[in-house]
Amino acid sequence: MTTVPETTTATLEQQVADLRVVPVVVLDKVENALPLCSALSDGGLPLAEVTFRTAEAADSIRRISGEMPDILLGAGTVLTPQQVDEAAEAGASFIVTPGFNPSVVEACLERGMPIVPGVNSPSQVEQAMAYGLRLLKFFPAEASGGRAMLKALAGPYGNIRFVPTGGIGPDNLADYLALDTVAACGGSWMVAGSLVAGGRFSDVTKLTRQAMDIARSARR
Ligand code: 3PG
Repeated sequence: MTTVPETTTATLEQQVADLRVVPVVVLDKVENALPLCSALSDGGLPLAEVTFRTAEAADSIRRISGEMPDILLGAGTVLTPQQVDEAAEAGASFIVTPGFNPSVVEACLERGMPIVPGVNSPSQVEQAMAYGLRLLKFFPAEASGGRAMLKALAGPYGNIRFVPTGGIGPDNLADYLALDTVAACGGSWMVAGSLVAGGRFSDVTKLTRQAMDIARSARR
């Protein structure tokens, strides 16, 4: 079984843990890709997880990686090995999945592509550990037991780091980030579809800055 090289995960884990927030982006138009990333960057967050929920995902990733190489760029909602190829070819530097799909995990490991797979149970955490993965998305966070579940998972799996995502916003971000096992939190609140579609990029920057302020003040 292919397992993850130690340095690959450690690097991504460190980068994500330094930024502490992972914006989950849905782009309907490639034209919005650069203004959105500029808005995130201006807010102090040079990171985007562009989800494969629209037909524009691969082209958006290609444009961002070509024009804004300083953005830490992930592909999210990756459901198939083919999408791993598309994301890699477009220039994504890591993959995020909502659930634990061994065929997608293996496709990533074979290509040396860092992956943050989704889990929400002890069995799935152990499946990920078997591949040598230790940075995992906890999804859907609030619906799967939220902080109480993460605290329970910290007992047996203290060396795993989570990126809880789903139902997180300014009101509960600090509480999640206060947990030792939380590397960063994912969420869409600062890049909501209405803001992006409406071209409200200054609001994206404002919400991002607020999120970064909360993250900075959160106890570790
Ligand atoms: C995701 O897929 O990661 C979620 O849709 C993001 O969750 P949120 O919209 O509740 O922040």
